[in-house]
Amino acid sequence: MKNVLVTGGAGYIGSHIVELLVKKKYNVFIIDNLSTGFKKLINKKAKFYKSDIKKIKKTKKIINSNNIDSIFHLAAYLSVGESEKKPKKYYYNNVTGTSNLLKACINSKVKNFLFSSTCAVYKDGNFKVDENTKLLPKSVYGKTKLYGEKIIKHHAKKYNVNYGILRFFNVAGASPSGKIGQIKSGDQLFKNLSIALTKKNPKINIYGSNYNTKDGTCIRDYIHVSDIADLHLKILSKIDKIKKSVILNCGYGSGISVLQVVNAFEKKTKKIIKIMIKKRRKGDMEKIISINNKLKKFIKWKPKYNNLNKIVDSALKWEKRFRNNL
Ligand SMILES: NC(=O)c1ccc[n+]([C@@H]2O[C@H](COP(=O)([O-])OP(=O)(O)OC[C@H]3O[C@@H](n4cnc5c(N)ncnc54)[C@H](O)[C@@H]3O)[C@@H](O)[C@H]2O)c1
Repeated sequence: MKNVLVTGGAGYIGSHIVELLVKKKYNVFIIDNLSTGFKKLINKKAKFYKSDIKKIKKTKKIINSNNIDSIFHLAAYLSVGESEKKPKKYYYNNVTGTSNLLKACINSKVKNFLFSSTCAVYKDGNFKVDENTKLLPKSVYGKTKLYGEKIIKHHAKKYNVNYGILRFFNVAGASPSGKIGQIKSGDQLFKNLSIALTKKNPKINIYGSNYNTKDGTCIRDYIHVSDIADLHLKILSKIDKIKKSVILNCGYGSGISVLQVVNAFEKKTKKIIKIMIKKRRKGDMEKIISINNKLKKFIKWKPKYNNLNKIVDSALKWEKRFRNNL
């Protein structure tokens, strides 16, 4: 197990996984169409193919010519808000994309397939969820990811592949290397706050302040991107060793409200952030926290960055470096 393909490897999380794979001496290959990814995030030690996972023939060629044995599949669109407005775009890219990638794996050496799923596949309002909690995605984005899970399971059974379905909670922060981090801004609170704090009068939109939570804002389980990268390598080794598939929640198991995050950024920077309350966003879940016992047991996991201030600190440091190098 040494030739690993990372789809979406020019994206935020993918680039962090690639960085770690390179460090651990894997041969790394990337397929990314740069729709939301960036050349800047592509690791020079990986072989990069600017291509779309929907192109079966081209992907098949890349997989076979490089003897790929394991795939980390991250390529997808992921904005909850946009998915509500443009459902077809999301089904096509995320579902057809995954399906075509799997078709390209038929008759290849690929034996391990790890998929970036999301906590958005769970039914809203459950608060703490384990892997057996009812699945009922609220957003189109969540629906496309659940669809992806189903086709992966079907393919894995038919072609004898080990899969790891990793349900990420909210990923934030940046690599301590300082070389990579989040570039694209969109729905992500940590990124938006980091950008806001580069301005003279920082402001932030909060979507909904009347949720049924302690301070009225949504609750999420934030996990540092370097811990997410580390998990991937450990889970890959384990499924390869035991030849079994697994579904795992990937979060720290602690609930943090949007306002708590804003306060942590204010405390760290000693600046006041003007809060602008907006209407709730369609598709947003009220509160969701992982129960991660299965993950902890599966890989004897000890997270390195399980601390809100550490995540805030790394996000701010990256933003500063990134802006200085623009
Ligand atoms: N960021 C989070 O908090 C979070 C949480 C849960 C799950 N996830 C999942 O993790 C994965 C990565 O997310 P991210 O935050 O790094 O986003 P990102 O947008 O930075 O990365 C996605 C990458 O995939 C590429 N891509 C998209 N469609 C493609 C296609 N058809 N062919 C080739 N490349 C394509 C993009 O160019 C981009 O580089 C996604 O699958 C997402 O659903 C992310």
